[in-house]
Amino acid sequence: MWPFRTRTAFTELGFSTDIHSHILPGVDDGFRTEDQSLAALRELNAMGVRRMILTPHIFPELYEANTPERIRGRFSGFSEKAAACGVECRIAGEHMVYPGIEPGFKTETAGEVLSLGGGHVLIEMSYAYESQNIREFIFHLNAAGFHPVLAHPERYLFYPEGSEDLDVLADMDTEFQLNILSLGGFYGRQAMEKAVYLLEKGAYSYLGTDLHSLSQINQLKSLRIEKKHLPAVEKLIAGNEALWNGAV
Ligand SMILES: [Fe+2]
Repeated sequence: MWPFRTRTAFTELGFSTDIHSHILPGVDDGFRTEDQSLAALRELNAMGVRRMILTPHIFPELYEANTPERIRGRFSGFSEKAAACGVECRIAGEHMVYPGIEPGFKTETAGEVLSLGGGHVLIEMSYAYESQNIREFIFHLNAAGFHPVLAHPERYLFYPEGSEDLDVLADMDTEFQLNILSLGGFYGRQAMEKAVYLLEKGAYSYLGTDLHSLSQINQLKSLRIEKKHLPAVEKLIAGNEALWNGAV
């Protein structure tokens, strides 16, 4: 025991379910080859991860081929190999919010949407500027019966710490997902400080690795969580379990 230890390794916290990752190979800016993806899953399994939701970027302007049909097709050839690495995977998407996105998210086509499960839809914006239709799209999602989950709000530096912009989105029934590596400063000091601010405020519901590469697994292994943040991070770990189990 280390009675005076003020930080704990993230890998010791029982993290077993990830809801945001770019491990499906060769479809976006994440993992490129199946070998690398399977190597990552073996490493994650050794860290205690048992369930992962794969969330390739869905953004026609950058990834024209990433239709729900093609992504599901790529996943069907991958999921059994992933399971053999000891990690059960599901397929979803990380949807960039852009003008004109709404038609893909209608109540009648809900089954086609690459959701996280239970109608939860992972959405993101550019790191450089706010999507001009973010509030309209969130309103649209809710009206169509979906539940928006905004990926890594701490990384949107156009929303300064303490501004009301994220509160407005939260008030519109948007849940927030922390990129756990933000707490280690891997996306810069500003994102780290904002992640701490939002975590201490209780703004997050889930956490994700947002894994794009094997090197980020080493970052995960080196990540230490401050003692005062352990209850909040453990709550997010439980949030991930609840999402996977359809309990939210
Ligand atoms: Fe992502």
